[in-house]
Amino acid sequence: MCGIVAYIGNREACPLIIKGLKRLEYRGYDSSGVALIEDSELNIYKKKGKVSDLESQLTDKNLNAKIGIGHTRWATHGEPNDVNAHPHFSNDRKLAIIHNGIIENYAAIKQNLIQKGHVFQSATDTEVLIHFIEDIQKETGTSLEEAVRLALLEVVGAYAIVVMSVDFPDQLIAARKGSPLVIGVGKDEFFFASDATPIIEYTKDVVYLDDYEVAVVRDGKLSIQNLDNTQKVPYIQKLEMELETIEKGGYDHFMIKEIFEQPRSIADSMRGRVRADEAHLQLGGLANYIDKLAASERIVIVGCGTSWHAGLVAEYLFEELARINVEVEYASEFRYRNPVIKENDIVIAISQSGETADTLAAIELAKSKGATIFGVCNVVGSSIARASHAGAYTHAGPEIGVASTKAFTAQVTVLTLIAIATAKRKGTISEETYRQLLVELETIPAKVEQVFENAAKIKEIAFIFTYARNFIYLGRGLNFPVALEGALKLKEISYIHAEGYPAAEMKHGPIALIDEDMPVVFLATKDSSYEKIVSNIQEVKARKGRVIAIVTEGDTLIPTMVDFVIEVPKVHEILTPLVSVIPLQLLSYYIAVMRGRNVDQPRNLAKSVTVE
Ligand code: F6R
Repeated sequence: MCGIVAYIGNREACPLIIKGLKRLEYRGYDSSGVALIEDSELNIYKKKGKVSDLESQLTDKNLNAKIGIGHTRWATHGEPNDVNAHPHFSNDRKLAIIHNGIIENYAAIKQNLIQKGHVFQSATDTEVLIHFIEDIQKETGTSLEEAVRLALLEVVGAYAIVVMSVDFPDQLIAARKGSPLVIGVGKDEFFFASDATPIIEYTKDVVYLDDYEVAVVRDGKLSIQNLDNTQKVPYIQKLEMELETIEKGGYDHFMIKEIFEQPRSIADSMRGRVRADEAHLQLGGLANYIDKLAASERIVIVGCGTSWHAGLVAEYLFEELARINVEVEYASEFRYRNPVIKENDIVIAISQSGETADTLAAIELAKSKGATIFGVCNVVGSSIARASHAGAYTHAGPEIGVASTKAFTAQVTVLTLIAIATAKRKGTISEETYRQLLVELETIPAKVEQVFENAAKIKEIAFIFTYARNFIYLGRGLNFPVALEGALKLKEISYIHAEGYPAAEMKHGPIALIDEDMPVVFLATKDSSYEKIVSNIQEVKARKGRVIAIVTEGDTLIPTMVDFVIEVPKVHEILTPLVSVIPLQLLSYYIAVMRGRNVDQPRNLAKSVTVE
């Protein structure tokens, strides 16, 4: 969703901000803009469409500002157009602001300001905020920094903001509540961004702003205070990200790069945690909580989209291995029910970005009822990671493609580790099974690599079905969430309508859809439900459905029954999703490319959904 980049220092701000905004394009947006202070003038340039459209508008201008703020907007209040794009001016055009999030009480504030003579150009809540700051500054005669603080004490909602003033060209003021903000600390220069990707090529020293904190850069120095006016010492951390991980590295799209990265990202999510030869499994972040997990009677898993699918996989794992009752909830539903949570319940929150608003709200609700929260996040330092009592990072590296791929397999890997560790502590698996699972886990990266040998074949299948109008994905057991995930991948990037079902559920309705035009993808690996899935395939073939089956290598029966087969290597049943999902990711990618879709930034979607 919306992206923030701001700079103050000795470099030319404009090209740096434009480059940073391009790095944030993956988050999804519909317009962009920059504000720059040049020759004692504050100017704003903004444009609906891509950052490159904004860039072309700037090419004939001689911009030499050393301070600026830039934004990519994903519309919430007011349609996507040039006027509603950020930055926004104050009434006297001396201040400018960029903002991620939503100011919920903006209408009341706006009404009050209109009565005082303020004139608004846009339909946004953000413009109201900067007018409000200006109003406080003028009425109280206080500093800009204090006016920002006083205004934020009044607003309800979520925000990450950066404010600048033409009267103070050596100052940038930023604040956050519920929307992330990272500050890069260079030599005599500072970078502000909604995630670390625009900063990484300039500095690895960063400060993650916490909720209710206001950061001020003045005269080359950074200070941080709480909204209640207490000073804080900035805590500088080292970024562990490498520049190459946020570039395409020769691939056509980030999505395909990230699909092919999975042998490494899965290995990274196990690195330092699993040593099969020593029968060692330890997740540092959970060490103090493993007894609590093992003793728990119920685990509630919350997440959205692909992360929710990883949660469904985990449900099977915890029940099968650790014999713990698990409920998996859409975070958006959970937060608005009155869920029954008891003090010894464990809530596992799964999120790639660590910023999903619904998941964050679900955590807060569960926390308020006394539950212990484990975060399984990919983005280090993200809001969900910090709101959790304990957790484990997935270490998949930055995921730029909007469609989640390597984050899913990393989530499943980490959840598998947690389930095995819990089962071991609880004594619900034998020593032999424990050791066997660790050995098998270490073979997964190589087995995923093996699936890639089928890429050309998957491409041919994609070609045949490029213009299909619908798809059905069917699986049982651990492959049921994989079917859901396959259908989600296809619909979000190719815009083909696709549904995932438990295969046995088909005869309760979806079977009516089957005819010779309906492609049906079966997850039909050799596992405990193999015979059942064979029957389901027969049911579809009897109605002339066109079947693509994901099978275990060496299967001789299913290839005689179906139209297309894609083999995956044999793995322990518990680990099946880690290999069976790979062909589905590739299939949706190739179909989307053949349909000419914008694979990395599909329409209407955002990488990190920070509004509910
Ligand atoms: C699908 C996808 C989304 C996300 C969902 C949750 O490919 O990317 O469905 O999985 O928006 O996002 P996170 O995991 O960041 O909480």
